[in-house]
Amino acid sequence: MTLPGSPFLARRGASLSLEQVELTDLARRFGTPLYAYSRNAMRAALAGYQRALAGRKHLICYAMKANSNLAVLQTFAQAGCGFDIVSAGELRRVLAAGASADKVVFSGVGKTRADMQAALEAGVLCFNVESQPELLLLSQVASAHGATARISLRVNPDVDARTHPYISTGLKGNKFGVAHEQALAVYRQAAELPGTEVAGIDCHIGSQITDIDPYIDAVDRLLDLVEAVEASGIPIHHVDMGGGLGITYTDETPPSAEALLGAVLARMDERGHGQREILLEPGRSLVGNAGVLLTEVLYLKPGEQKNFCIVDAAMNDLVRPAMYEAWMAIVPCELREQAAQRWDIVGPVCESGDWLGRDRDLAVRQGDVLAVLSAGAYGFAMSSNYNSRARAAEVMVDGNQVHLIRERESLTDLYALERLIP
Ligand code: LLP
Repeated sequence: MTLPGSPFLARRGASLSLEQVELTDLARRFGTPLYAYSRNAMRAALAGYQRALAGRKHLICYAMKANSNLAVLQTFAQAGCGFDIVSAGELRRVLAAGASADKVVFSGVGKTRADMQAALEAGVLCFNVESQPELLLLSQVASAHGATARISLRVNPDVDARTHPYISTGLKGNKFGVAHEQALAVYRQAAELPGTEVAGIDCHIGSQITDIDPYIDAVDRLLDLVEAVEASGIPIHHVDMGGGLGITYTDETPPSAEALLGAVLARMDERGHGQREILLEPGRSLVGNAGVLLTEVLYLKPGEQKNFCIVDAAMNDLVRPAMYEAWMAIVPCELREQAAQRWDIVGPVCESGDWLGRDRDLAVRQGDVLAVLSAGAYGFAMSSNYNSRARAAEVMVDGNQVHLIRERESLTDLYALERLIP
């Protein structure tokens, strides 16, 4: 079987390795469930975007919602990357990882006054403003601080990214961004208001996109607006294309960063916007294929209608299958010479929706370690403590080195913030 995703994940003989480290050894050493990431896979994914943008004014802002572990942020910051944040908590993480705020863009439809204050104090590069009332509040907050907030309007370009409805964000029916028709008026207002200064324009059309065409539609829609806004005397410095490039979970063949950006930049050149600074907010494609979730088989439970393979990772550790019916590859870390059987891979949580994979043909035994592939994005970051399950540990593999980058939560951590009533 070929493994979807990363060249850093390979089977040598019967054993699966991430870079130079065998996954079964990691599971033995750190316990399961365990998230393991390849640092070089992350660096290689970033380098793909950097190569594609070489020679252009640009900033890549990693959408850290995909995986916000400090060591992941540190890895990207050291490689020259900026960050796309959506909360004061994410800002705090960026700063804790040693990165500076001047490469941070702040997205999100529901920024609070406190979020705005924190971001102004830190000195973020730009606020991606998603509505007129948000603009008004930002103007107030910035003026009260004697600060100027650089802003970009997130425009809803109304293009169909042809992805899962829950992760499609650039259609008229989505809550995100300012409607294309209203954007010019909101830009005019932003240029007049105290405390705000127009810096750019941005959009985000969805996630796990495997086609280039929706991006080209979005570029066209944005450039139409840039031209209209500039014609009214308001300069726009940068164009932020959002994130969204998909990865391989099964047999998807998403375009490379080079192919995507080659097409986007060609369109910008064609329309006479070649000198404009370009920003990008990739999340999934920088970390998704770099990570696996390791889990141990607790019990095999063959049944009349279904065979269940009960593992120690659950929907609280990795919610993508339960939430989006996402298909994620599940493979044994050690191959066995026995016939495969068909299993539903399920976790210990008390919900029928608690599954990681359905109808998978696997040769497994109790005690084996399985790897859920392409789990580096929206895996740990979306995990919870449901069923009072402590969240998994995370490790970063770098060549033959292994770093524990998040300890497994302890059972007392689970209620550390709670108080009995006196
Ligand atoms: N920028 C903005 C404003 C976003 O909302 C997102 C993701 C990104 C960038 C990064 O998009 P990416 O490059 O990762 O596609 N939890 C879902 C994905 C939700 C994406 C939300 N927004 C999943 O597991 O599939």
